[in-house]
Amino acid sequence: MNSVEEKIENKIAKPEKKTNSERIKTGVPGMDEVTHGGFVPGSVVMLSGNTGAGKTIFALQFLYEGAIKYGEPGLYITTQNNAEDIRKYAKTIGLDIESLEKKNLLIIESINPNYPQILLKIVEPLLRKKRFSRLVIDSATIIEYYIKDIFKVKNVFYKLFSVLRNSPGSSIIVSEMGLHGDTSTLSVAGIEFLADTVIALHRKQKKGAEFTRGIEIVKMRQSDHTKMIHPYTITKKGIKIFPDEKWF
Ligand SMILES: Nc1ncnc2c1ncn2[C@@H]1O[C@H](COP(=O)(O)OP(=O)(O)OP(=O)(O)O)[C@@H](O)[C@H]1O
Ligand SMILES: [Mg+2]
Repeated sequence: MNSVEEKIENKIAKPEKKTNSERIKTGVPGMDEVTHGGFVPGSVVMLSGNTGAGKTIFALQFLYEGAIKYGEPGLYITTQNNAEDIRKYAKTIGLDIESLEKKNLLIIESINPNYPQILLKIVEPLLRKKRFSRLVIDSATIIEYYIKDIFKVKNVFYKLFSVLRNSPGSSIIVSEMGLHGDTSTLSVAGIEFLADTVIALHRKQKKGAEFTRGIEIVKMRQSDHTKMIHPYTITKKGIKIFPDEKWF
């Protein structure tokens, strides 16, 4: 096949990008309210928080609910676990992701963070074949730690995000927040500037009390969103956000 034919085939095979008015419903209770309707189609969302903030749980709910409620297939790429760990973890919050895999509604891929170029090699053909519309990469931070050259990391994510903007769904890139837990340290290499939407998961503890959790929409290109930090909880049923309540 010559390159012109290849170009045309790619064009035909690419999923239709939905208009901005049709939002991607996240499936996380309360999240569609704080984002004024859900994620923007084709947007790349960076989900940042400290360890234990609920990033993996949020991401799993996004894929699970997308597949179950809206029939949207998902791709989960992990840099730190194997597929079996993810299946077991999902079960603990009541999500049977094995059944989704059997119905071709979910693919789990484990990658070597030393070789992030593999991300584009996995994502591009699967997107072209419409094998997924929702994507999760959990997490970018492991890649940032392995690849010391910041420009190399940014280049990989820049190319990847450009491809993902053709997706009919949207993508979550998980990132570990700096130890200070403030939004000035959302990622190691600064990939938040490349993302369309940035969500920060916070926690605070008053002396002698249990810590509480708060979710902030730091930015959301092409959309208005809440400017408030809202409380959220994690239980055995997963994450729930309280859009009508103020965190502090
Ligand atoms: N079954 C459960 N019931 C109640 N809370 C739970 C349950 N499972 C997990 N949690 C809470 O969620 C937290 C872990 O969430 P999650 O694994 O999504 O965090 P994370 O942000 O991905 O962390 P890391 O950066 O270490 O990967 C736990 O520390 C606990 O507080
Ligand atoms: Mg995690």
